[in-house]
Amino acid sequence: MTENGCLPKDNFTLALKVVTGVSVGVFLPFFMSFWLYLGLQKRRLIRTKQKFFELNGGVFLQQQIRNYSDTSKGGGGFKIFTKEELEKATNNFAAGRVLGHGGHGIVYKGVLEDKTVVAVKKSKTTEEVPTKEFAREMFILSQINHKNVVKLLGCCLEVEVPMLVYEFVSNGTLYHYIHGSRGLDSDTGFNTCLRIAVEAAEALAYMHSSASPPILHGDVKTANILLDDKLTAKVSDFGASKLAPTDEAKMATLVQGTCGYLDPEYLMTCRLTDKSDVYSFGVVLLELLTRKKALYFDGPEEDRSLVLCFMMAVKVGQHQDLLDSQVRDEMTIEALEEITHLVMRCLNMSGEERPTMKEVAERLEMHVRKQMHI
Ligand SMILES: *[C@@H]1O[C@H](CO)[C@@H](O)[C@H](O)[C@H]1NC(C)=O
Ligand SMILES: *[C@@H]1O[C@H](CO)[C@@H](O)[C@H](O)[C@H]1NC(C)=O
Ligand SMILES: *[C@@H]1O[C@H](CO)[C@@H](O)[C@H](O)[C@H]1NC(C)=O
Repeated sequence: MTENGCLPKDNFTLALKVVTGVSVGVFLPFFMSFWLYLGLQKRRLIRTKQKFFELNGGVFLQQQIRNYSDTSKGGGGFKIFTKEELEKATNNFAAGRVLGHGGHGIVYKGVLEDKTVVAVKKSKTTEEVPTKEFAREMFILSQINHKNVVKLLGCCLEVEVPMLVYEFVSNGTLYHYIHGSRGLDSDTGFNTCLRIAVEAAEALAYMHSSASPPILHGDVKTANILLDDKLTAKVSDFGASKLAPTDEAKMATLVQGTCGYLDPEYLMTCRLTDKSDVYSFGVVLLELLTRKKALYFDGPEEDRSLVLCFMMAVKVGQHQDLLDSQVRDEMTIEALEEITHLVMRCLNMSGEERPTMKEVAERLEMHVRKQMHI
């Protein structure tokens, strides 16, 4: 009886053993492979990051930064960010954090761990193969310390298209300042605009002459001149710029820039020079003088380009009519004629005939000083 009585119990344990055995036999490999899969995924992710990091010249950049922090110069505060750091700073690149859409990508507002507010620029696509050259440019730009140049704080290289981290400039762009709905405040007249122009010109002159090799902007426009809370100009987007090419092969770079501001000589030769920036800056000055956009689409077909329109008017001596009424009220005829003459020199078809950025800055500065004494 006891034997019989025990039988069902034994049967039960056997069943339990079988079920457990089968479960473990089936699920353990399953869990193991899942775990392995996760591990592999993670390793692949790390390897992908490492690959991009190396492709984007990260190793070179790290070395460069280390070399500089060894010397008295310091690393310039330049930092290589991880992808996670920037995701956290921008709230996963939330739509609410978008500061603006540029031609090259999207700019997000970010807050770093130490509460520093930054602008993170994420390019849409790689326009060119990332190289060591990129890292070199990054490093040179990071060493620039000019009060009128937006400071490059760091970059993230472990993604396909490197992301750039800039200092945050709070008060929008010169473009919005001139053409925005807010309009110019009556108490911040043309003299403020002129001062902003001088600061931007000084920044460009500095980049052209003080750095070696010279750093060209390549996309000077009012939308790239940012303003801080004291309305100080800060030239941005040197990231889109090219260092002056040193060899023939590199000269034929892809034409970049913005319609309405492009140096015609650059279009013909595909060779960006410091004088291309001078031309574009001439267009910026015209925009300030006329409060018209570089290209506007509300006029008749032939009047769409501000430069052509203005040149035509100068030819027949009617350019004063194109100037903004507030500008005409604030400036003397002589000053306006001198500035117009300067603009026309900047817009000369031949780059050689154009003044340098340094001369432009000096001449404009003279007018600012004169205005202050009136
Ligand atoms: C850093 O310094 C070392 C030793 O001085 C040098 O070999 C190396 O090329 C430097 N790296 C860079 C990126 O300048
Ligand atoms: C921009 O600057 C103007 C003039 O200083 C100031 O009144 C305005 O509040 C500033 N705007 C922002 C968003 O900081
Ligand atoms: C360019 O500058 C030269 C020399 O100053 C001048 O003779 C020429 O007329 C200018 N061209 C244009 C299109 O302004």
